[in-house]
Amino acid sequence: MEHGGTTQAGPATVDEISEGLIELSQAGFARFARYITGELGIKMPDSKLALVQSRLMGRVRELRMRSLDEYEAYFFASAHASEREHVINAITTNKTDFFREAGHFDYLSDSAVPALLRDERRAGSRLKLWSAGCSSGEEPYSIAMVLAEYAAGHSGFDFAILGTDISTKVLDHARQGVYKESLIGPIPRAMRNKYLLASRTGREPVVRVVPALRRKISFHQLNFMSADYRIKDMFDVVFFRNVLIYFDLSTQEAVVRKICRNLIPGGYLFASHSESLSPLDVPLRALRTSIYQRLG
Ligand SMILES: C[S@@+](CC[C@H](N)C(=O)[O-])C[C@H]1O[C@@H](n2cnc3c(N)ncnc32)[C@H](O)[C@@H]1O
Repeated sequence: MEHGGTTQAGPATVDEISEGLIELSQAGFARFARYITGELGIKMPDSKLALVQSRLMGRVRELRMRSLDEYEAYFFASAHASEREHVINAITTNKTDFFREAGHFDYLSDSAVPALLRDERRAGSRLKLWSAGCSSGEEPYSIAMVLAEYAAGHSGFDFAILGTDISTKVLDHARQGVYKESLIGPIPRAMRNKYLLASRTGREPVVRVVPALRRKISFHQLNFMSADYRIKDMFDVVFFRNVLIYFDLSTQEAVVRKICRNLIPGGYLFASHSESLSPLDVPLRALRTSIYQRLG
């Protein structure tokens, strides 16, 4: 049953909330921090207190509770999977962009794809790619646009993309494939014209990715902390960008090792320019900054 958040003293008023009755005690923060790191691998030093407070406040208001400490008590007493989902959706940082770190997309179509298609170890004509930690879909749709362009010039070329994330909120967004028009600036104009449809609905101008491109991507929930990812496919390319930064070194190593189980020998892994895999003991060799190849 959904909690109404009503205490004996009645629900919190807007004034009480804005007067600062919201603060999470140090012990309350420590409990959430342990939970978040245990569930998601995300580091939670004390400096994240303000962030955790602001991210969870929305839920406190929805439940009309009086404070974050009240929410903390409720959260840890309740076994609701839906409440766990609220916290995970609130705590994860989902910042992303179309064609973020644009050089990766040039490298993909100019170097990685031609090399993979020449590689005799590969089986099957369809290239398989995984956007691991795909957020609201901008990354896998950028990959799809680039590969659709490649396919237009290379008959017989085909591809499929898997997008995974822990947050159900961003996955729902990604499946819709609807974006504010203000976000499409980084997409080359020719691709915008081919792969996006203007939508007349809603207050703000939005675009929707064309169905033919949406069909190339399937979105699934996956927690990098799971012992077994239960993914049967072997991928030619993995985009794993701007996720590692949230993990400590041993978690980074464990996660990259698990990802490599589903990357073919000679397959490519793209990390972010701000992330280095070189301190990790993983079966990859660096090709250039942030681009790695599976040994084997
Ligand atoms: C900053 S976004 C990066 C999005 C995209 N890869 C990019 O570079 O633009 C990081 C994503 O990782 C996801 N994430 C964080 N921890 C995770 C975990 N333990 N399992 C799966 N996804 C996780 C978050 O939900 C978030 O959407």
